[in-house]
Amino acid sequence: MAGDNEKGKEHKEVTAAPKDRSKLNRRDVLMGLSTVPALGLFGYAWNSQRGYQQSRAEAAAVTPAADPGLQEINVALLGAGAQGQVLTEAMLRIPGLRIRAVCDIWTEYNQRRVVNTLKRFKHEANGYDDYREMLDKEPAIDAVIIATPDFWHAPHTIDCLRAGKHVYCEKEMSNTLEGARSMVVAARETGKLLQIGHQRRSNPRYIHCYEKLLGEADLLGRIVTVNGQWNRGVAPDLGAPDRYAIPAAQLKQYGFRDMHQFRNWRWYKGLGGGPIVDLGSHQIDIYNWFLGANPSHVMASGGLLYHDPKTHEWYDTVMVVYDYDTPQGPAKAYYQTQTTNGSQGYFETFMGDQGTLLISESEVNYAGQLYRDPNAPAWDEWVQKGYVSAPKEQEAREHKESAAVADVRESVAPDQHTVPVVLRDPYHQPHLQNFFDAVRGKATLNCPAEIGYESAVSVLKVNDAIEAKSRLSFSPEDFKI
Ligand SMILES: NC(=O)c1ccc[n+]([C@@H]2O[C@H](COP(=O)([O-])OP(=O)(O)OC[C@H]3O[C@@H](n4cnc5c(N)ncnc54)[C@H](O)[C@@H]3O)[C@@H](O)[C@H]2O)c1
Repeated sequence: MAGDNEKGKEHKEVTAAPKDRSKLNRRDVLMGLSTVPALGLFGYAWNSQRGYQQSRAEAAAVTPAADPGLQEINVALLGAGAQGQVLTEAMLRIPGLRIRAVCDIWTEYNQRRVVNTLKRFKHEANGYDDYREMLDKEPAIDAVIIATPDFWHAPHTIDCLRAGKHVYCEKEMSNTLEGARSMVVAARETGKLLQIGHQRRSNPRYIHCYEKLLGEADLLGRIVTVNGQWNRGVAPDLGAPDRYAIPAAQLKQYGFRDMHQFRNWRWYKGLGGGPIVDLGSHQIDIYNWFLGANPSHVMASGGLLYHDPKTHEWYDTVMVVYDYDTPQGPAKAYYQTQTTNGSQGYFETFMGDQGTLLISESEVNYAGQLYRDPNAPAWDEWVQKGYVSAPKEQEAREHKESAAVADVRESVAPDQHTVPVVLRDPYHQPHLQNFFDAVRGKATLNCPAEIGYESAVSVLKVNDAIEAKSRLSFSPEDFKI
């Protein structure tokens, strides 16, 4: 199983920073993309300003110049694998950053690759294989971006925080609750920022749906059921060229049995959490956010139904039902992830007594569809305000060649509206931007350690529930530190 975006179409390689970046209003950049929903709604000049993105192919450009007076932030990357490279791509588009160091134990492959890429973009980054040495030798570093395997997140984050650095750490916050808890405590004790990489929290479409559609307009009414999935087709295990194999002693030193485990750590107990943690954590985090509550119970069924148990320890197929006591009343939320068929990809659906929201981080599938329940009041006001698009009426279907006759009790498909907010940047850029804005004291974190912890508590328990073969309960104290 590759990472949540390693197989995706959208993040293949580190590409160029924008050349005609001068068209981008710097204030917008500095404010972070939390401003985008409003801009997108009214078709503002945002789109035209963002024409610069077309120039991604012009690989000769350097990182966007910072505004005069913008405090430059010295950054280190810890973990330069698939996701480290995606984050680097996004950081290269953010003004005012100086990437000074890259730490990765795969020195001849990932580390070299990212250091060389950075050079092309005029960032002279030093390479390290030991993060402690990096912290000792790079006192000027302000912030560390951590994208190592989940079981390394706690030690890496805690040591970086204690060294006085702000930290952006990828999800899953940790593969253990103890690890996640100790990260929250370290952030509090050091007073440094800790952002967890649930990047949908900074995605302008998600923010628009949360603030405007579910909040101000209350378009869905009372949400009673939620449904979501991340389905992924069968993929070969990740490999590595023999000539770049890391010596066994070194692998062992860093907690890996062999190169297969090093590359496919997600599937191994004690290293990652399997697909439910790797993929599900993104979306279950959104369940908690949009429902305004943490779950009260979880029941789950899962198993290793398809993959080879010699090389896959975690469940390849998981189906979960959460109970929530939301401020509006009880709700049930279903989630499934499976890795044998990619049908319909990944999305979340929130169903209320007034309407339905189907949303995904994917800009190509289910980017944001809304359905007004036929019994709900008209949404004209919200269409006029630009909060949702005008409805696309369902075409009357004729069944000339079919003998089927619609049953009078059958619900007619409601008209489809869309959420008129598009993210044209790499998916992780707004979340990184929010982190760097917070480092500059100009924003608060969209996913601080405490929120990441609540998500980790919700998600890690799914594997416990599968093992226990019973419905497990959460107490409100489980989510507090
Ligand atoms: N937010 C997202 O959408 C998203 C997407 C993919 C992955 N992730 C997360 O990013 C993290 C990395 O995932 P990935 O897909 O890049 O994995 P990966 O295996 O491709 O990369 C991990 C990198 O860390 C390095 N590494 C391992 N142990 C190390 C150590 N002790 N010190 C320094 N370097 C070390 C490896 O050499 C490798 O280059 C995971 O936590 C994953 O859950 C998040």
